[in-house]
Amino acid sequence: MKALILSGGTGSRLRPLTYTNAKQLIPVANKPILYYAIEAIKEAGIEEIGVIVGETKDEVISALGDGSEWGVSFTYIPQEAPLGLAHAVKIAEDFIGQDDFLMFLGDNLVRQGVKSFVEQFQREKPNSLILLSRVDEPQRFGVAELDGGRVIRLVEKPKNPPSDLALVGVYLFDNHIFQAVHSIQPSWRNELEITDAIQYLVDQNFRVDAHIIDGWWKDTGKPEDVLEANRMMLEQIDSRVDGYVCEHSQIIGRVVVEKGAKVIKSTLRGPLIIGSGSVVEDTYIGPFTAISENVEIKNSEIENSIVLKEVKISDIQCRIDFSLIGKGVKIQKQNNKPKAYNFVIGDNGQIDL
Ligand code: DAU
Repeated sequence: MKALILSGGTGSRLRPLTYTNAKQLIPVANKPILYYAIEAIKEAGIEEIGVIVGETKDEVISALGDGSEWGVSFTYIPQEAPLGLAHAVKIAEDFIGQDDFLMFLGDNLVRQGVKSFVEQFQREKPNSLILLSRVDEPQRFGVAELDGGRVIRLVEKPKNPPSDLALVGVYLFDNHIFQAVHSIQPSWRNELEITDAIQYLVDQNFRVDAHIIDGWWKDTGKPEDVLEANRMMLEQIDSRVDGYVCEHSQIIGRVVVEKGAKVIKSTLRGPLIIGSGSVVEDTYIGPFTAISENVEIKNSEIENSIVLKEVKISDIQCRIDFSLIGKGVKIQKQNNKPKAYNFVIGDNGQIDL
């Protein structure tokens, strides 16, 4: 059995964060989203992984390497444009060969992992096994209609969803999916849709099983999803202080301070993580905050946020809350006159004062 991770696409909904970074590499609890997928695949016993890469290919390849770090091997498969999930399957045909495979969307997080689904697929041998989850806004996803547990219809982002069962971005296929992706036509948005390919399997009387998952799952498509994923993953961390925490600082709850990080005269209220090389001084860091590497926070308060590397925050009087702060951003108090806010912000940035 092989796996296919989809890490192409453009990530436009997470801009400006994704102008210079693949959305799959945004860290959640200081670990790129994509790493969770790799760990889940390895845990399921799969070691040969194809990775679909697009315009952010260089960043993805340099973050993942050859796979030896996880004991797996990566084969990178370039996709000339994000032409759809079924297009990604089509271009992976040579890599997959005659094997069954697990397809994992690189911006999806499934807390329970995928081992039990892989086992179910291997045990019950359907032509495809799809995972479904009940959601509040089904129109944001592919949606399945079931009849007594049997999949009868799949629709991609329907205006009037036939159910609240969204397709989770983890799919299991045998070789018949290639027949399907070669038979379907591009959709109205000019993508070859995986939902149409699975619908083809259903229509041709191949066996498509559905498994409704009850554990936590997230498609990290929007900033608030990334922050929720961060909260969920920080819930699971164990305390570890490898960096320096001065005697005038206070630690409450589960806190990770990485090697080389310094915490001076500050209060840390976990769960939270502070990356290596970061300095926190005269500051309050509250629950569900992930501070990446080489960040400097002085005389400020922050909680429920993700701060990417090399950010500098100083003398901010109001608590920063529920924020996603991109690489190298500076937020500081100006004492000069005239008193004014000065902004240099990327496209689609958001400031709520
Ligand atoms: O997250 C679950 C949803 O994922 C499903 O419910 C939908 O049925 C499915 O179509 C998909 O919808 P999204 O709109 O969220 O897909 P997105 O364009 O965000 O792409 C998902 C991942 O696949 C992302 O990591 C980028 C990558 N990708 C996407 C396309 C379209 C590629 O590598 N190549 C592509 O051509």
